[in-house]
Amino acid sequence: MRDLEVSHRFWTEIIGFRQVAELKNRPFKMRFYSGVSEDGEVTHHDLALAEAPPEAAGQDAWTMQPKRIGLNHVAIAWPDRASWLKQVEFLQNKGVKFLRRVNHGMTHSVYIEDPDGHGIEVLYELPREIWENDIDGAQNFSERLPTEGAEALVDTTDNPVFGGAKVSA
Ligand SMILES: [Fe+2]
Repeated sequence: MRDLEVSHRFWTEIIGFRQVAELKNRPFKMRFYSGVSEDGEVTHHDLALAEAPPEAAGQDAWTMQPKRIGLNHVAIAWPDRASWLKQVEFLQNKGVKFLRRVNHGMTHSVYIEDPDGHGIEVLYELPREIWENDIDGAQNFSERLPTEGAEALVDTTDNPVFGGAKVSA
């Protein structure tokens, strides 16, 4: 990370993760974060952030098209459609730019970026039975959706089913 305090605010205030630990007595800053389940439970960490020295700076904004070596995006699943819709509305109210919004065959996803240009896919999973028989087909399905205004908050539920009936070997 370029600036750990800026990244900290993004991951806690925008994504909703909680800081669970911080390394002590090190020559660099490193903190650990967890997603929070519906009953308030945390993990030891889902994410570790460490601040890089200033000379490490210099990244482009995120795009699906790879332009540099490194992590393209991480996918974070909200527990269900309702909590995802709430989060997407929250992001828009906070002024977070939707870089891309897509209905995949197995998820409905909004792509944003963190302060250092890492892609973050904010998603909810569609029922397993509609994609498990053809994961490749579901991954390749991509319906681009509006990223701005009221249209960016409209989510449909007439999802295509992939693979049809299972063929036994
Ligand atoms: Fe993804």
